[in-house]
Amino acid sequence: MCRKWALDLRGSRVRFVTCNAPLTSAHCSVMEIRAFAEQILLQPELDRKLAPPTESLTDLSPGDAMVLTEPARTPDLRFAPRRTAPKMPAFGAFSHPEKRGLAHHIMANHELQALEVMAWVLLAFPEAPPSFRAGLAGVMRDEQRHTRMHASRARALGVPFGSRPVNCYIWKKAMSFTGVLDYLAGLPLVFEAANLDHSIEMAEAFEAAGDPQSAAIMRQIHLDEIEHVRFGLHWLQVLKPEHLTPFQAFEQHLHWPLRPCKARGTVFQREARKEAGMDDEFINAVEAASDEKV
Ligand SMILES: [Fe+2]
Ligand SMILES: [Fe+2]
Repeated sequence: MCRKWALDLRGSRVRFVTCNAPLTSAHCSVMEIRAFAEQILLQPELDRKLAPPTESLTDLSPGDAMVLTEPARTPDLRFAPRRTAPKMPAFGAFSHPEKRGLAHHIMANHELQALEVMAWVLLAFPEAPPSFRAGLAGVMRDEQRHTRMHASRARALGVPFGSRPVNCYIWKKAMSFTGVLDYLAGLPLVFEAANLDHSIEMAEAFEAAGDPQSAAIMRQIHLDEIEHVRFGLHWLQVLKPEHLTPFQAFEQHLHWPLRPCKARGTVFQREARKEAGMDDEFINAVEAASDEKV
């Protein structure tokens, strides 16, 4: 590792930033978190969206808020009109490789949207705490890897990523976020929390279909998702008003149709939620949440 001077323009301070380049390397550079987010949202090529930064990330110039309405994507991955993207195949159809490939195709798009939403948050809320922004950039590296894993498996099963229409469900929900607490409630504590259940359901369905490679991807994502939910819960606890419990803050920052019952799948993974740091009150409230419109 080498260290390099960087100028913090906001505080007129000079400080060290670390660089992962070996000491013998002549190359040592840094990338701003904002540039990382812009690379994901403003340029359409999938390879570049999914390229983890090779430089150390700095956050010296978060810049002005930029609220984008749609991520740049290549034509094959642009959001399709409502109800035109294929639905998740029934688990009973997983004996057909093409159906499993379609499942990975759909999940690759989920992961890509999660990545894009996180980049959107970095650009929309530059005033968020620097350690939240740095942590989010770390989660984004995982989402890049998850997208690559699903895309690669979809291709191996005969359904290259981009060969089917893709929906914009997660992205559209994020467009109602008005602050970091909305993001924390809506993405880590709904979509990623629900994926604690969905990832295991999927892993078991792939195993039942005799596809241990696909199952292994889901189990890896499950483990990563525990950390992502932990990250979301931690920051909800840090940023919420003191008089609210974590669950109250979570519920108050959800925008319809997101609601607590959407934060779970079919088979409830209580232990995974405990591992992510949720207390019994939060877990029980999610498990018991009604699906009725109030
Ligand atoms: Fe993911
Ligand atoms: Fe995640």
